[in-house]
Amino acid sequence: MRTLIFDTDIGVDDAFALAYAARTQRLLGITTVFGNVAVGQAVKNARLFCEKMKIDAPVYRGCSRPLALAPSAPAKLHGEDGLGDAFTNPYSDRAPGAVSFIIDSIRAQPHEITLVAIGPLTNIASAINQAPDIIPLVKELVIMGGAFGTDGHSGNVTPFAEFNIWKDPHAADQVLSSALRVVVVPLDVTHKVLIGSKEIQQLNQPVLSAIVRPYLAYSLQKEGFDGMALHDTLAIAWLCQPQAFQLMQGPLRVITEGIARGQTVRKISALASRDDPFRDLPDQRVALGVDAAQVRDHFFRTLSDQSGSRP
Ligand code: BDR
Ligand code: CA
Repeated sequence: MRTLIFDTDIGVDDAFALAYAARTQRLLGITTVFGNVAVGQAVKNARLFCEKMKIDAPVYRGCSRPLALAPSAPAKLHGEDGLGDAFTNPYSDRAPGAVSFIIDSIRAQPHEITLVAIGPLTNIASAINQAPDIIPLVKELVIMGGAFGTDGHSGNVTPFAEFNIWKDPHAADQVLSSALRVVVVPLDVTHKVLIGSKEIQQLNQPVLSAIVRPYLAYSLQKEGFDGMALHDTLAIAWLCQPQAFQLMQGPLRVITEGIARGQTVRKISALASRDDPFRDLPDQRVALGVDAAQVRDHFFRTLSDQSGSRP
């Protein structure tokens, strides 16, 4: 079991991931960021979801816009409020600052904290820019984001870009080219782990069943699939079942401008050039293969266990 800071723009699949994390890891705090929803809504959503699921973790408010780009509209597929418009939300959108919470926590518990980032990487980039001394003190940063083209999975916002990276490509490029110890869980694997609407009902988790409705309707209408990709849950699956993933290793960058804005790229050329954009960058790990059955099995067993105990 790891000690986590869970960084999220909490929408529907983030909520599934949070439920899974709460049953398998120790949650030190939930840091919110813009993305699927505005950051204030993310604060409210995190508090509401924690109350409904009996998750005990403090919530922090992070960045409200990308580092360099103009803000773009929130995603709509998670419902207007990001949690399927299933509940009235009485919570305040005010909370202590996420970036200082990340910095202070890592300094206080060096080498102990795993960061899980399942939204735009703006909070993480801001933390390492403000306090580069924390970089070697982070145990691991697990990112759901990016797409490297395996089996045609090269993007879900544009043909080149995945949503979390596309929202703030400058932050993502800084984080991926930093010396943080990173594992990237991209669309290449998250699109392979699907859950059907009937299986969601069988989890017997009324809150998850309620928030997922518009997301499933969107998926059925757009993709003809009555279910969803688990996406953010795969970042937690990496912590629970690392043996289920096949990793590639090498330096990573993000394209920040032009038609391929938000594209994640890894070094595949052996060309030695003075202009090599990967020059002197550390190797990072990227999951390009996954045993979907193993991941699904552990996720189902964990979430459908009504005692809330950890399988
Ligand atoms: C990512 O985009 C968001 O909408 C999801 O929550 C997930 O983090 C998938 O591309
Ligand atoms: Ca997310």
